[in-house]
Amino acid sequence: MNYVEIAKQIATEAGLMAKNRMNDEWSIEHKNSNTDIVTEIDRDAETLIKQRITENYPDHQFLGEEEAFLNQSNHEQTLEGIENIPYLWIVDPIDGTNNFVQGIQGLNVSIALACYGELIVGVVYDPIIDEIFWAEKNKGVYVNQEKLSVSKRDMLRKCVVGARVSANNEQRKIEINSIESVASQCLSLRILGSAAINLAYVAAGRLDAFWHYNLNVWDIAAGALIIKEAGGEITESKGDDYRLNSKAILGSNGHIHDTLLNNL
Ligand code: IPD
Ligand code: CA
Ligand code: CA
Repeated sequence: MNYVEIAKQIATEAGLMAKNRMNDEWSIEHKNSNTDIVTEIDRDAETLIKQRITENYPDHQFLGEEEAFLNQSNHEQTLEGIENIPYLWIVDPIDGTNNFVQGIQGLNVSIALACYGELIVGVVYDPIIDEIFWAEKNKGVYVNQEKLSVSKRDMLRKCVVGARVSANNEQRKIEINSIESVASQCLSLRILGSAAINLAYVAAGRLDAFWHYNLNVWDIAAGALIIKEAGGEITESKGDDYRLNSKAILGSNGHIHDTLLNNL
């Protein structure tokens, strides 16, 4: 089996495990702040994903959100040296943990594979509705078996855009400023609570764009390849090229990208 098939298989196994345990009793802990939470299920999902990747590819490297939290400096070093790493799997075991905790739709397992710093595989699996987005570099992107492309909408007034409102006071001020500006010009905004789902929905033409000022590599990597392979565009929010350590990003159908950049 090739990389993307293995990634799909692993994302599905981990996602279904999380879904099956959604109504169990599990512990919740705080990470960097009171609003940054992690559950036992996030950790178990990451352990399972790492185990499966290691079984299949013992020589490959692994960067997962929960392991990175325990060892911040290692994760930063890994990203600095990423161009020298033959194969790096980048994993968000549950993206949308708040949705998971609240029992709201909109969570996924996000798995990307980078080869010498270039994304070659991206998979986003939503276990609640059993929908899998999968892309291979230069081979297009699919949701389940259906090929995807971004929307053709080129007037912001007709577009639906994904956004985010943070609990952090400083971040929120910046977000609200940009929301003021974008919301007054687009058709409607959505706050879905999962970066990877937002990016995958841009690829599917369900959203026309999504921006966020404060993400990590595991939130974006799979979705970034998925958007590119659907014919969309992803850059930093100031217009610079997207890199794996980018934090502030704009993903769009390409047609409204410049207009949005002027508003962020
Ligand atoms: C979060 C989600 C959320 C975004 C946060 C991320 P997590 O990831 O993607 O939409 O706004 O910044 O941290 O914690 O659910 O994996
Ligand atoms: Ca995440
Ligand atoms: Ca997560």
